[in-house]
Amino acid sequence: MIQEALTYNDVLLVPQYSDIVSRKEVDLTSWLSDHQFRLPIIASPMDTISETKMAKAMGETGGLAVIHRYNSVEKQVKIVESIIEDPCSYGIPTVAAAVGTSGDYLERAAALVGHGAKILCVDVAHGHHVLMKLALEKLRELFGDTVHIMPGNVATLEGYNDLVDWGADSVRCNIGGGSICSTRIQTGHGIPGLHTIIDCARSDRNVPIIADGGIRNSGDIVKALAAGADFVMLGSLLSGTDETPGDVINTREGKFKAYRGMASKDAQVEWRGRTASLEGIATTVACKGPVNEIILELERGIRSGLSYSGARHISEL
Ligand code: IMP
Repeated sequence: MIQEALTYNDVLLVPQYSDIVSRKEVDLTSWLSDHQFRLPIIASPMDTISETKMAKAMGETGGLAVIHRYNSVEKQVKIVESIIEDPCSYGIPTVAAAVGTSGDYLERAAALVGHGAKILCVDVAHGHHVLMKLALEKLRELFGDTVHIMPGNVATLEGYNDLVDWGADSVRCNIGGGSICSTRIQTGHGIPGLHTIIDCARSDRNVPIIADGGIRNSGDIVKALAAGADFVMLGSLLSGTDETPGDVINTREGKFKAYRGMASKDAQVEWRGRTASLEGIATTVACKGPVNEIILELERGIRSGLSYSGARHISEL
């Protein structure tokens, strides 16, 4: 049991002396192995967030989207191909796609990498698990160092260290904090998100930390980066944008789109035909317009945040 732990809403950063004259001086570059990103923002591997349009739009803004795994291998490969066959204005975006740790995950991983995915997100709710250990060993055996492997999620320093020792190139951190997550209610487990980031950042292993879930605004992103995260992963903040999969729902109150946890009843019935443990909820969110406008607003807030701390780079922060 944890004694006391903090999350985003519990803390504020203390403004520091700054010699940053323009926010343009702030450089938000972050790296996953040798893949460079202009922004430290990743769209979640969820079926109401990341498919072709989101991956292209995130690529255009300088971030990344992870193509979700809640479909057939053929469908996921088609999405990967659609990103690579039809490049964005600046070229081919780095393609990231998710796999699990059981069932068809090896066949899926081979097909995704064979069609151009450079980053594999090993996407399970409880990543500090023997099945993750076996999966990472197998994936490393299959791909060597040719693919960046991003497993998760973990909630503790021990979890982070073990995943790195089992072969992770970056680790998705946080359990229970997502806006559509009911894991804490259903299972009694979880750790306040910011605490996990601070904990994992104490590690002597030095692979990127992805702060995933529970991030509600640019201020939270700055707090996550200050706590030691290299990237944030966003679901809710990007939900309802034009680039998310799913139809617009017209109502008298306005236009909405679906946003749902991948362990919600709706999602499970659709992709596995039955329900197991229900640890997520399904909801609708008001339509927000193009995702690049949301990202631009977030970027402005993050730049301003680094400037308040007198930091020109994420590492200085
Ligand atoms: P948000 O940005 O707070 O909406 O959180 C998004 C994150 O919630 C995702 O990146 C996942 O890590 C996590 N997540 C997605 N689906 C579920 C679920 O059904 N239950 C618990 N967590 C989930």
